[in-house]
Amino acid sequence: MTAVHVVGSRREAGWLIAEQIGELVRRVPKINLGLATGSSIETVYTELDRQGVDLGKARGFALDEYIGLPEAHPQSYRSVLTRMVVDTLGLPASRLMLPDADHPELFDRVIDRWGGVDLQLLGIGSEGHIGFNEAGSSLGSRTRAVTLAESTRRDNARFFESVEKVPRLAVTQGVGTILRARRLVLLAFGASKAEAVAAALEGPITARVPASALQLHPDVTVVLDRLAAGGLQFVGRQPSTASTFPRRL
Ligand code: F6R
Repeated sequence: MTAVHVVGSRREAGWLIAEQIGELVRRVPKINLGLATGSSIETVYTELDRQGVDLGKARGFALDEYIGLPEAHPQSYRSVLTRMVVDTLGLPASRLMLPDADHPELFDRVIDRWGGVDLQLLGIGSEGHIGFNEAGSSLGSRTRAVTLAESTRRDNARFFESVEKVPRLAVTQGVGTILRARRLVLLAFGASKAEAVAAALEGPITARVPASALQLHPDVTVVLDRLAAGGLQFVGRQPSTASTFPRRL
Protein backbone atom coordinates (compact mmCIF):
# COMPACT_ATOMS: atom_id res chain seq x y z
CA MET A 1 0.00 0.00 0.00
CA THR A 2 1.61 3.24 -1.06
CA ALA A 3 -0.57 5.98 0.40
CA VAL A 4 -3.74 6.29 2.45
CA HIS A 5 -5.20 9.80 2.56
CA VAL A 6 -8.01 10.66 4.94
CA VAL A 7 -9.71 13.83 3.73
CA GLY A 8 -12.54 16.03 4.91
CA SER A 9 -15.04 15.53 2.11
CA ARG A 10 -15.85 13.64 -1.07
CA ARG A 11 -15.14 16.75 -3.03
CA GLU A 12 -11.64 17.00 -1.55
CA ALA A 13 -11.02 13.36 -2.44
CA GLY A 14 -12.15 13.93 -6.01
CA TRP A 15 -10.05 17.07 -6.25
CA LEU A 16 -6.93 15.30 -4.97
CA ILE A 17 -7.19 12.47 -7.48
CA ALA A 18 -8.27 14.73 -10.34
CA GLU A 19 -5.12 16.83 -9.73
CA GLN A 20 -2.97 13.72 -9.97
CA ILE A 21 -4.72 12.45 -13.08
CA GLY A 22 -4.57 15.91 -14.67
CA GLU A 23 -0.82 16.00 -14.17
CA LEU A 24 -0.43 12.53 -15.67
CA VAL A 25 -2.60 13.41 -18.66
CA ARG A 26 -0.56 16.55 -19.32
CA ARG A 27 2.61 14.43 -19.33
CA VAL A 28 1.15 11.46 -21.19
CA PRO A 29 -1.98 12.52 -23.13
CA LYS A 30 -2.36 8.99 -24.51
CA ILE A 31 -2.89 7.57 -21.03
CA ASN A 32 -4.87 4.32 -20.60
CA LEU A 33 -7.39 4.86 -17.83
CA GLY A 34 -9.32 2.10 -16.05
CA LEU A 35 -12.78 3.54 -15.47
CA ALA A 36 -15.05 2.58 -12.59
CA THR A 37 -18.61 3.78 -12.08
CA GLY A 38 -20.58 4.37 -8.88
CA SER A 39 -21.04 7.34 -6.60
CA SER A 40 -17.53 7.27 -5.06
CA ILE A 41 -15.80 7.65 -8.41
CA GLU A 42 -18.28 10.15 -9.79
CA THR A 43 -16.59 12.83 -7.71
CA VAL A 44 -13.32 12.26 -9.62
CA TYR A 45 -15.04 12.77 -12.99
CA THR A 46 -16.79 15.89 -11.70
CA GLU A 47 -13.50 17.37 -10.47
CA LEU A 48 -11.66 16.43 -13.68
CA ASP A 49 -14.34 18.39 -15.51
CA ARG A 50 -14.00 21.35 -13.14
CA GLN A 51 -10.24 21.32 -13.63
CA GLY A 52 -10.69 21.29 -17.41
CA VAL A 53 -8.83 18.02 -17.94
CA ASP A 54 -9.13 16.87 -21.54
CA LEU A 55 -9.12 13.13 -22.22
CA GLY A 56 -9.21 13.64 -26.00
CA LYS A 57 -6.12 11.48 -26.55
CA ALA A 58 -6.74 8.96 -23.78
CA ARG A 59 -8.19 5.46 -23.91
CA GLY A 60 -10.68 4.16 -21.36
CA PHE A 61 -11.19 0.58 -20.17
CA ALA A 62 -14.35 0.01 -18.17
CA LEU A 63 -14.01 -2.01 -15.02
CA ASP A 64 -17.31 -3.79 -15.46
CA GLU A 65 -20.73 -3.84 -17.10
CA TYR A 66 -24.11 -5.31 -16.28
CA ILE A 67 -25.36 -8.25 -18.31
CA GLY A 68 -28.95 -8.05 -19.50
CA LEU A 69 -29.37 -4.28 -19.75
CA PRO A 70 -29.65 -2.82 -23.24
CA GLU A 71 -26.55 -0.70 -24.02
CA ALA A 72 -28.74 2.40 -24.23
CA HIS A 73 -30.27 1.84 -20.77
CA PRO A 74 -29.37 4.92 -18.68
CA GLN A 75 -27.80 2.69 -15.98
CA SER A 76 -25.71 0.54 -18.31
CA TYR A 77 -22.10 1.36 -17.57
CA ARG A 78 -21.61 2.24 -21.22
CA SER A 79 -24.27 4.94 -20.79
CA VAL A 80 -22.90 6.12 -17.45
CA LEU A 81 -19.32 6.38 -18.75
CA THR A 82 -20.52 8.02 -21.95
CA ARG A 83 -22.23 10.72 -19.89
CA MET A 84 -19.41 11.21 -17.41
CA VAL A 85 -16.27 10.66 -19.45
CA VAL A 86 -17.06 10.82 -23.18
CA ASP A 87 -19.55 13.70 -23.23
CA THR A 88 -17.90 15.65 -20.43
CA LEU A 89 -14.15 14.97 -20.54
CA GLY A 90 -13.75 14.44 -24.28
CA LEU A 91 -12.72 10.78 -24.31
CA PRO A 92 -13.49 9.66 -27.89
CA ALA A 93 -16.41 7.20 -27.86
CA SER A 94 -14.41 4.86 -30.10
CA ARG A 95 -11.74 4.64 -27.39
CA LEU A 96 -14.09 3.64 -24.60
CA MET A 97 -13.76 -0.14 -24.27
CA LEU A 98 -16.12 -2.30 -22.24
CA PRO A 99 -15.87 -6.03 -21.58
CA ASP A 100 -18.13 -8.02 -23.89
CA ALA A 101 -20.48 -10.36 -22.05
CA ASP A 102 -20.28 -12.89 -24.89
CA HIS A 103 -16.47 -12.94 -24.94
CA PRO A 104 -15.29 -11.70 -21.55
CA GLU A 105 -11.99 -13.56 -21.82
CA LEU A 106 -10.97 -11.31 -24.74
CA PHE A 107 -10.91 -8.18 -22.60
CA ASP A 108 -7.60 -8.92 -20.89
CA ARG A 109 -6.06 -9.37 -24.32
CA VAL A 110 -7.58 -6.10 -25.53
CA ILE A 111 -6.08 -4.31 -22.52
CA ASP A 112 -2.67 -5.90 -23.15
CA ARG A 113 -2.83 -5.05 -26.83
CA TRP A 114 -3.16 -1.36 -26.02
CA GLY A 115 -0.25 -1.47 -23.58
CA GLY A 116 -2.04 -2.12 -20.27
CA VAL A 117 -3.89 0.18 -17.89
CA ASP A 118 -1.80 3.06 -16.53
CA LEU A 119 -4.18 4.07 -13.75
CA GLN A 120 -7.21 2.12 -12.56
CA LEU A 121 -9.96 3.86 -10.59
CA LEU A 122 -11.75 1.70 -8.05
CA GLY A 123 -14.59 1.91 -5.55
CA ILE A 124 -15.21 -0.77 -2.93
CA GLY A 125 -18.43 -2.64 -2.18
CA SER A 126 -19.79 -2.72 1.35
CA GLU A 127 -18.73 -6.39 1.48
CA GLY A 128 -15.30 -5.82 -0.01
CA HIS A 129 -15.74 -6.25 -3.75
CA ILE A 130 -13.65 -4.42 -6.33
CA GLY A 131 -15.15 -4.28 -9.79
CA PHE A 132 -17.86 -6.88 -9.47
CA ASN A 133 -15.49 -9.41 -7.94
CA GLU A 134 -17.66 -10.55 -5.07
CA ALA A 135 -16.46 -12.41 -1.97
CA GLY A 136 -14.93 -15.70 -3.05
CA SER A 137 -13.44 -14.39 -6.31
CA SER A 138 -10.02 -15.82 -6.99
CA LEU A 139 -7.30 -13.25 -6.51
CA GLY A 140 -5.88 -14.38 -9.84
CA SER A 141 -9.19 -14.11 -11.69
CA ARG A 142 -9.42 -12.59 -15.16
CA THR A 143 -12.28 -10.78 -16.88
CA ARG A 144 -15.34 -13.01 -16.72
CA ALA A 145 -19.10 -13.16 -16.20
CA VAL A 146 -20.20 -13.22 -12.56
CA THR A 147 -23.34 -13.40 -10.43
CA LEU A 148 -23.90 -10.30 -8.32
CA ALA A 149 -24.21 -10.74 -4.56
CA GLU A 150 -27.59 -9.82 -3.13
CA SER A 151 -25.86 -7.13 -1.04
CA THR A 152 -24.52 -5.53 -4.24
CA ARG A 153 -27.96 -5.62 -5.86
CA ARG A 154 -29.43 -3.98 -2.77
CA ASP A 155 -26.65 -1.34 -2.70
CA ASN A 156 -27.18 -0.56 -6.39
CA ALA A 157 -31.00 -0.52 -6.20
CA ARG A 158 -30.75 3.25 -5.67
CA PHE A 159 -29.86 3.61 -9.35
CA PHE A 160 -32.93 1.61 -10.45
CA GLU A 161 -36.69 1.72 -9.77
CA SER A 162 -36.41 -1.25 -7.42
CA VAL A 163 -34.00 -4.02 -6.43
CA GLU A 164 -35.82 -6.43 -8.77
CA LYS A 165 -34.72 -4.29 -11.72
CA VAL A 166 -31.01 -4.59 -10.82
CA PRO A 167 -29.43 -7.19 -13.12
CA ARG A 168 -28.33 -10.45 -11.53
CA LEU A 169 -25.29 -10.92 -13.75
CA ALA A 170 -22.38 -8.77 -14.80
CA VAL A 171 -19.07 -8.99 -16.55
CA THR A 172 -16.08 -7.70 -14.62
CA GLN A 173 -12.35 -7.33 -14.89
CA GLY A 174 -10.92 -10.00 -12.61
CA VAL A 175 -8.92 -9.29 -9.48
CA GLY A 176 -5.83 -10.50 -11.35
CA THR A 177 -6.69 -8.19 -14.25
CA ILE A 178 -7.02 -5.21 -11.91
CA LEU A 179 -3.69 -6.00 -10.24
CA ARG A 180 -1.95 -5.73 -13.61
CA ALA A 181 -2.71 -2.00 -13.86
CA ARG A 182 0.40 0.06 -13.18
CA ARG A 183 -1.31 2.21 -10.57
CA LEU A 184 -4.49 1.73 -8.52
CA VAL A 185 -6.61 4.42 -6.92
CA LEU A 186 -9.44 3.48 -4.56
CA LEU A 187 -11.97 5.90 -3.10
CA ALA A 188 -14.44 5.12 -0.32
CA PHE A 189 -16.81 7.28 1.70
CA GLY A 190 -19.23 6.78 4.54
CA ALA A 191 -19.59 4.49 7.53
CA SER A 192 -21.10 1.72 5.40
CA LYS A 193 -17.62 1.20 3.84
CA ALA A 194 -15.60 1.28 7.09
CA GLU A 195 -15.64 -2.45 7.73
CA ALA A 196 -14.77 -3.37 4.15
CA VAL A 197 -11.97 -0.77 4.05
CA ALA A 198 -10.45 -2.07 7.31
CA ALA A 199 -10.67 -5.68 6.11
CA ALA A 200 -9.14 -4.75 2.75
CA LEU A 201 -6.24 -2.70 4.09
CA GLU A 202 -5.50 -4.37 7.42
CA GLY A 203 -7.00 -7.85 7.23
CA PRO A 204 -5.56 -11.02 5.74
CA ILE A 205 -5.18 -11.20 1.98
CA THR A 206 -8.05 -13.46 1.08
CA ALA A 207 -10.56 -14.20 -1.66
CA ARG A 208 -13.25 -13.58 0.96
CA VAL A 209 -12.38 -9.88 0.71
CA PRO A 210 -11.31 -9.36 -2.91
CA ALA A 211 -10.19 -5.77 -2.16
CA SER A 212 -7.53 -7.21 0.19
CA ALA A 213 -5.62 -8.06 -3.01
CA LEU A 214 -4.67 -4.37 -3.15
CA GLN A 215 -2.09 -5.19 -0.49
CA LEU A 216 -0.24 -7.15 -3.19
CA HIS A 217 0.13 -4.13 -5.49
CA PRO A 218 3.17 -1.83 -5.27
CA ASP A 219 1.42 1.43 -6.24
CA VAL A 220 -1.95 2.00 -4.59
CA THR A 221 -3.46 5.29 -3.45
CA VAL A 222 -6.48 5.06 -1.15
CA VAL A 223 -8.57 8.16 -0.41
CA LEU A 224 -11.13 7.95 2.39
CA ASP A 225 -13.35 10.28 4.34
CA ARG A 226 -13.20 10.04 8.12
CA LEU A 227 -16.19 7.71 8.30
CA ALA A 228 -14.80 5.21 5.81
CA ALA A 229 -11.46 5.33 7.63
CA GLY A 230 -13.21 4.70 10.96
CA GLY A 231 -12.28 1.02 11.25
CA LEU A 232 -8.55 1.42 10.50
CA GLN A 233 -6.10 0.81 13.33
CA PHE A 234 -2.66 0.38 11.88
CA VAL A 235 -2.39 1.80 8.39
CA GLY A 236 -0.11 4.84 8.28
CA ARG A 237 -2.07 7.79 6.96
CA GLN A 238 -0.56 10.50 4.83
CA PRO A 239 -0.60 14.07 6.12
CA SER A 240 -3.94 15.71 5.37
CA THR A 241 -4.17 17.52 2.06
CA ALA A 242 -6.21 20.24 3.75
CA SER A 243 -3.50 22.87 3.39
CA THR A 244 -3.54 22.64 -0.40
CA PHE A 245 -7.21 21.98 -1.05
CA PRO A 246 -8.77 25.21 -2.29
CA ARG A 247 -11.78 25.19 0.01
CA ARG A 248 -13.34 28.20 -1.60
CA LEU A 249 -13.52 26.79 -5.10
C1 F6R B 1 -18.40 0.05 -10.35
C2 F6R B 1 -17.78 -0.99 -9.54
C3 F6R B 1 -18.09 -1.20 -8.09
C4 F6R B 1 -18.23 0.10 -7.31
C5 F6R B 1 -18.51 -0.21 -5.84
C6 F6R B 1 -18.71 1.05 -5.03
O1 F6R B 1 -17.85 0.10 -11.65
O2 F6R B 1 -17.04 -1.72 -10.07
O3 F6R B 1 -17.08 -1.99 -7.54
O4 F6R B 1 -17.06 0.85 -7.41
O5 F6R B 1 -19.64 -1.01 -5.74
O6 F6R B 1 -19.83 1.72 -5.51
P1 F6R B 1 -20.26 3.13 -4.89
O7 F6R B 1 -19.13 4.06 -5.14
O8 F6R B 1 -21.49 3.54 -5.68
O9 F6R B 1 -20.53 2.90 -3.46
